[in-house]
Formats: sequence, structure tokens, C-alpha cells
Amino acid sequence: MSVVAVCPGSFDPFHNGHLDVVTRAAAQLDEVVVAVVDNPAKQGLFSVEERVALVEEVTADLPGVRVDRFTGLLVDWCAEHDVTVMVKGLRTVADFEYEVQMARMNAHLAGVETIFLVTDPQWSHVSSSLVKEVARLGGDVSALVPTAVLRPMLERL
Ligand code: PNS
Repeated sequence: MSVVAVCPGSFDPFHNGHLDVVTRAAAQLDEVVVAVVDNPAKQGLFSVEERVALVEEVTADLPGVRVDRFTGLLVDWCAEHDVTVMVKGLRTVADFEYEVQMARMNAHLAGVETIFLVTDPQWSHVSSSLVKEVARLGGDVSALVPTAVLRPMLERL
């Protein structure tokens, strides 16, 4: 039986911590679907179409990885696609508290399991919001995001 997992997120933008989690998940599972949330109530730096395109570009060489988008409840997307497990990265205790709550809610709603991968320490300080803030203020974030993301992000900021 092949194991397909979803790796959901905002990915605004996709950074090296995301890439590390997706790469490690893909090494252990048959297929990983990176699912970009489309939240019309939240204005991102990039549109959902742009985020999908950037994640596709960055993960193009990773076997077993594809990209999709979803709106509404993630467990509904999981049911529509016969996916019963999701993968999340854990950076900090704050992540743990929030992610455990979501994992329990997703299990409660639809029996969807969550597998946590502990973030590689080199990326434990990296979040999309901090990357954007530092870049906006002129800091060097070139080591924190894939090259395909860096240029469009700096142009957009
Ligand atoms: O990258 P993020 O913003 O931390 O990702 C959060 C995300 C998109 C995974 C989470 O907000 C989510 O699953 N949103 C979809 C709506 C939903 O299912 N909410 C209930 C979560 S228990």
C-alpha cells in the first residue's frame, strides 16, 4: 500500500525550512502533496497561483512530490483525495502547542493523522513572516529561501 501524505501551509513564501521538511518527508513516503491554502480572507505577499508556481519550481526535482491548492477545511481536501495523513514541521514549543491542537482537531473531524518532523536546527529560526520582515527592512535572507523565491520576493517587497 502506498502512503500519500499532504504537507499543508500558507507558503508565503516557501522557505528553506519548508523545503527541508518536504524533502525529508518525500524520502520516507511514497508521495507528498504540498497543499497551498487559498484563504480569500488573508492577503498574502504572493497570490495562491504564484505560491503554487514557486513551490512547483523549487520542488520540481524532488521525486514523489507534487503541488496542489485547497480552500476551506484541509480534512475535506484530504477526503476528496483519499489522503489520511499529513506532515508538519516542528520548530519550537510554540509550534508544538499550536500544531498538537490542530492535529487533534483534524483527527477529531476526520481521523486524519499528523506526522511531525522536527525541523533541522539550521532552519529553526526561519518563518515566512520573519523572512518577509527582515527582507523588507533590508536584511540578508538569501541563505533562508530557495533562489527561485528570493528574486520575486525582493521585487515584490
Ligand atoms: O503555513 P501555515 O499558515 O502555518 O499553515 C496553516 C494551515 C494552512 C495548515 C492551517 O491553517 C489549515 O489547515 N488551514 C485550513 C483550514 C482548516 O482546515 N482549519 C482547521 C485546522 S484544525
